[in-house]
Amino acid sequence: MITLGIETSCDETAAAVVRDGRVLSSEISSSVHLHARYGGVVPEIASRFHTEFILSVTRQALADAHCGIKDIDLVAVTCKPGLPGSLLVGRAFADALSFAGKIPLIEVDHLQAHIMSCFLGARGKNRDVTLAGDVPIFPFVGMVISGGHTSMYICKSLKDFTLIGRTLDDAVGEAFDKVAKILGLGYPGGPVVEERAANFTNGKEINFSRALLGDASNLDFSFSGIKTAVMYYWRDSAKTEAEKDKICFSFQEAVLDIIEEKVIRAVRFAEKTEKLAVGGGVVNNEMLRRRLASRCRRENIELCLAPRKFCSDNAAMVAVLGESLFEDGKCNTENTEKN
Ligand code: KG4
Ligand code: ZN
Repeated sequence: MITLGIETSCDETAAAVVRDGRVLSSEISSSVHLHARYGGVVPEIASRFHTEFILSVTRQALADAHCGIKDIDLVAVTCKPGLPGSLLVGRAFADALSFAGKIPLIEVDHLQAHIMSCFLGARGKNRDVTLAGDVPIFPFVGMVISGGHTSMYICKSLKDFTLIGRTLDDAVGEAFDKVAKILGLGYPGGPVVEERAANFTNGKEINFSRALLGDASNLDFSFSGIKTAVMYYWRDSAKTEAEKDKICFSFQEAVLDIIEEKVIRAVRFAEKTEKLAVGGGVVNNEMLRRRLASRCRRENIELCLAPRKFCSDNAAMVAVLGESLFEDGKCNTENTEKN
């Protein structure tokens, strides 16, 4: 089966072609450079960008996969959550392809796709995990750490994701972006904060508070307090480059302490699983990857991190999840009679 995935929920216009769970192509065009001077995504700019680039991005994904639209058996598109105008562009485009080509269309949840991106490229014979179909990977605890979400789920099947913890205010990626903005480091903040943190090699770190860690049963997150603490610290500091490095290091340490602790709690809370899958843009962070890997080793938890090239928004994760849902019998249009 060949599936075309379409993703336009935020500032990445993406299309991908997947055959039986294997990624044949993944094309992404990002409008991040247009948002940089605003320090965050401007919805109107994002949706205009999608309108302009969705066709060329899709053509490129098909060409890279050596496919034509007639070869496509299924169109999978992100339907939620996301910026309404941006989602609308992808949905309308996918609808048009589905209608014109009489190709079945399937809607995919973006957060579920981030979690399932952990298993990209790990499907089928001679691999240790599979998606829907033969040997199930379920149950496991899934976590999304991105610019818009910090959420943990017990994942029992493709249709059964139960939310067990979430941020009460800012998402982790958003906190990285805001700290970078406070320090004048540009946008997006994650990569540059990580880079500046690595410059801090000696000295005493700043003890930013770790919110909601006290109660051992609490699975929620809060990152707005640490963002404000960074703001006040910077305001009263000597404002040197070395201070920026120290703030980035201390902020990152605090955030990673929280994530590490909560995700282990979530696996213990889930009881019937020792498996953890973590996806989303923040999973690009090398320190986060290392810390989760070593903690899970110590705790005997099987960890599956999204491959780096599929951490940020992409359409391969949408296509793979769409294909699995389709095989599982979920299809939501009448355009099922293929040309
Ligand atoms: O998943 P994603 O591409 O888009 C959303 O669905 O939100 O995540 C983007 C977020 C941004 O906030 C960005 O700053 C963060 O991921 N990010 C990072 C790193 N790379 C990207 N955060 C921390 N460390 C990184 N290396
Ligand atoms: Zn995302």
